[in-house]
Amino acid sequence: MQLDIERLISDFGGPAALCEAFNQAFPDDPLSRAAIYKWRERGSIPLAQVNRLSVVAQQQGRSFSIHHYLAAEGSPAVATPVVTASQPQVSNMSDRLYIFDTTLRDGEQSPGAAMTKDEKIRIARQLEKLGVDIIEAGFAAASPGDADAIRAIAEVIKDSTVCSLARANPNDVRAAGEAIRPAARGRIHTFIATSPIHMEKKLRMTPDQVVEAAVAAVKLAREYTDDVEFSAEDALRSDIDFLARIFSAVIEAGATTLNVPDTVGYAVPQRTEAFFRELIGKTKGGDKVIWSAHCHNDLGMAVANSLAAVLGGARQVECTINGLGERAGNASLEEVVMAVKTRQDIFGVHTGVDATQIVPSSKLVSTITGYPVQPNKAIVGANAFAHESGIHQDGVLKHRETYEIMSAESVGWSTNRLTLGKLSGRNAFRTKLEALGIVLDSEEALNTAFARFKELADKKREIFDEDLQALVSDEATQHEHDALKLVSMRVHTETGEVPQAEIVISQNGNEQRAASSGSGPVDAAFKAIENLMQSGSELLLYSVNAITSGTDSQGEVTVRLSRSGRVVNGQGADTDIVVASAKAYLDALARLAGQEQKVNPQV
Ligand code: KIV
Ligand code: ZN
Repeated sequence: MQLDIERLISDFGGPAALCEAFNQAFPDDPLSRAAIYKWRERGSIPLAQVNRLSVVAQQQGRSFSIHHYLAAEGSPAVATPVVTASQPQVSNMSDRLYIFDTTLRDGEQSPGAAMTKDEKIRIARQLEKLGVDIIEAGFAAASPGDADAIRAIAEVIKDSTVCSLARANPNDVRAAGEAIRPAARGRIHTFIATSPIHMEKKLRMTPDQVVEAAVAAVKLAREYTDDVEFSAEDALRSDIDFLARIFSAVIEAGATTLNVPDTVGYAVPQRTEAFFRELIGKTKGGDKVIWSAHCHNDLGMAVANSLAAVLGGARQVECTINGLGERAGNASLEEVVMAVKTRQDIFGVHTGVDATQIVPSSKLVSTITGYPVQPNKAIVGANAFAHESGIHQDGVLKHRETYEIMSAESVGWSTNRLTLGKLSGRNAFRTKLEALGIVLDSEEALNTAFARFKELADKKREIFDEDLQALVSDEATQHEHDALKLVSMRVHTETGEVPQAEIVISQNGNEQRAASSGSGPVDAAFKAIENLMQSGSELLLYSVNAITSGTDSQGEVTVRLSRSGRVVNGQGADTDIVVASAKAYLDALARLAGQEQKVNPQV
């Protein structure tokens, strides 16, 4: 693309008039005529100045689109103005979109999605394989366990930057700095709220105090790393001039990435794009940093808003696998990545993500968190590429592109290959686990997992990657909660009879037996467990998911329990779904007993 700068400058009345209009609009950050001559010489305009041009044009009461001045090499620029804000980039604007994954931090804030250190490491390894640029591994000040998990991730991840969240206070920033110390590349992400309602009602701070805290936090963070991100929480409900002020100040203090979160999922795409443009234009030094979008999905527009932000100049998107996150979740990584890939014509950016790792990442996160993926979910839902209707099937068979805009293989559905069989040996098993990023910490753990694999292979002819992930999760769960284990169970169901369950549980090595009837075999099993455990917890959710296809598939069960305000998810997997359910229930009880208290960063 070539930029017709001459025409652009002359449309603003020539260098002198343009310079004057600029300096009226931005008296604090004046532009010299020499800078305009430089644009001419270089044939490009910095992104921040493009955004400022939009503001200048707006003040002059006319529409402005950079696209109007862009043309493919060798062909004349578009002659008639295209009145749309959603157009791509000037020639020197980077076309690299950084993917910042926050599954392990914002995703983990979903009810019951708290993960163990080992689970987090497994997900982090998969995210690295997926090619995300930054992994937000947690919030170090939340608990010693969180800090420990971030440190462990920082030790093993080499290709992605490892990041910790920190509120804008010295304790948090220090905890984050210590946690990321072992990282090959480490980032501190510090934040403070900037909307009037948050400053007044939550923080009880004046705007000046907020700016002061943000600047101090960024300066302190720079003592640990030169990669510092600053977020203005609830930015999309903040005053844009105040945002420009605080962002200008933190740039000066050393922030290198500026994040503009839509914390409550209030934004709409058109306004988001304009908001980013104007904000980048108004921020001093805005052309020297990476702008980032972080959108929540309360109105179902997180992905749309993130993409609009990209059109407005953002070059980092914060997102999670499967859109996991508090309430309605965060922008879904797979949708953002595939949207910019499939619609290069609109977005003109590329990511470093290996799209074939998307489906394996989705399945792993779902298995570990117990949050199933809805079948009609874009990209990673089981039906995302299934063509039921006869018309569609006919079209796809004749020519795939008639109804498919991307292939199932390109996002990793084919990586769901047959993995191992009954005759596979221990070495093949170990090699496959390593390829999946699963490292067992001892020969004993490998032997136990291998024995479980053989048991499963006896029941199920074909073993897929997802089976192995579930098997290792299940094994890790059993191992972690050695104190509480399912030893055996017997269930009786017969048409017209009340279902009965008898269960043997080992609690701290003591075997105990209990029985109960119930409205179904699962209900009977849960009641039998409760007869023994008397946990006083409330069952919030029970879900069963087939891990692979076929009736011999393992069922993966999630049980969500709550007690005294604490919510946990338990998981279990087995080819017998009643056994999987009992395991999941016991896992949830063990987590309820053992989970450490965490501080929520945003409260
Ligand atoms: O949603 C939000 O505002 C956040 C910040 C901490 C970045 O998650
Ligand atoms: Zn968030």
